[in-house]
Amino acid sequence: MAQTIAICNQKGGVGKTTTTLNLGAGLVRQGKRVLLVDADPQSDLTTSAGIEGDKQENSLGRLMYLATENYKPVVKDAVIHHNEGFDIIPSNLDLSSMETRLVNAMSREKVLDNLLKSVKSDYDYILIDCMPSLGMITINALTAADSVIIPVQAHYLPAKGMTQLMRSIDMVRNHTNDKLKIGGIVMTLVDNRTNLAKEVIDTIRMKYGMLIRIFDAQIPVAVKAAEASKAGQSIYEYDRDSKPAKAYEALTKEVMRLAEREKHRDEAAIAR
Ligand SMILES: Nc1ncnc2c1ncn2[C@@H]1O[C@H](COP(=O)(O)OP(=O)(O)O)[C@@H](O)[C@H]1O
Ligand SMILES: [Mg+2]
Repeated sequence: MAQTIAICNQKGGVGKTTTTLNLGAGLVRQGKRVLLVDADPQSDLTTSAGIEGDKQENSLGRLMYLATENYKPVVKDAVIHHNEGFDIIPSNLDLSSMETRLVNAMSREKVLDNLLKSVKSDYDYILIDCMPSLGMITINALTAADSVIIPVQAHYLPAKGMTQLMRSIDMVRNHTNDKLKIGGIVMTLVDNRTNLAKEVIDTIRMKYGMLIRIFDAQIPVAVKAAEASKAGQSIYEYDRDSKPAKAYEALTKEVMRLAEREKHRDEAAIAR
């Protein structure tokens, strides 16, 4: 059964999409079966994977629409296989109307969770790229997830935004998904030449380090990371030896170690 991870932060431009793509491609390189889910109507993940969202008849928005209309959509019909080895459920603007449509839907927080259940046994990891808001679609992503990874950009103090995100995570835990764990914070767009980056990282460690894992791997700011997305490729395919490729590889291994540990813990709990 797949480990489902939501990549979430309601602030835009923090590296959620870049992290989803490169963590996904990294897991494939470690021999894992991976599904990426684009849960942002802006469909940056879809574009970064070299897919034209608007040209897709099937998309996450369509699946969710059909599910709320009580049809039983076949999730696999919307899955596209990428030449780097992962699968992806693309998104397009169809998803934006779901935000208001979900409000009046039955089991509105669980629409995505129910959809993903039908493909969980086909993958080791499902990564959900969240949109920059804490609305219904993001609540659906957190409800479907086993854990959440929070990318935080290293040149901006995120204090207030983090509090809101933690509140949403608590709300989801209390109402729709009591198993939701915080996988950790990953520092992105790190520029070690600046004092600001060091200051932000120190502040995050001080404020959250006791409660939340901060991944050892830090993603450096590097033009290559942005160029790869524009080229529709992962950073490994674009420039295997670049600093962001090495950083994302290190993050991938940390995430895998964490997932293995969780799995053993769950198995031990079941055995008891
Ligand atoms: N490590 C990096 N170095 C330089 N630019 C980056 C890096 N990671 C992401 N970017 C760029 O920053 C912008 C925001 O990243 P993105 O992953 O789309 O964030 P989000 O999904 O949180 O909005 C994009 O243009 C992306 O190409
Ligand atoms: Mg994004």
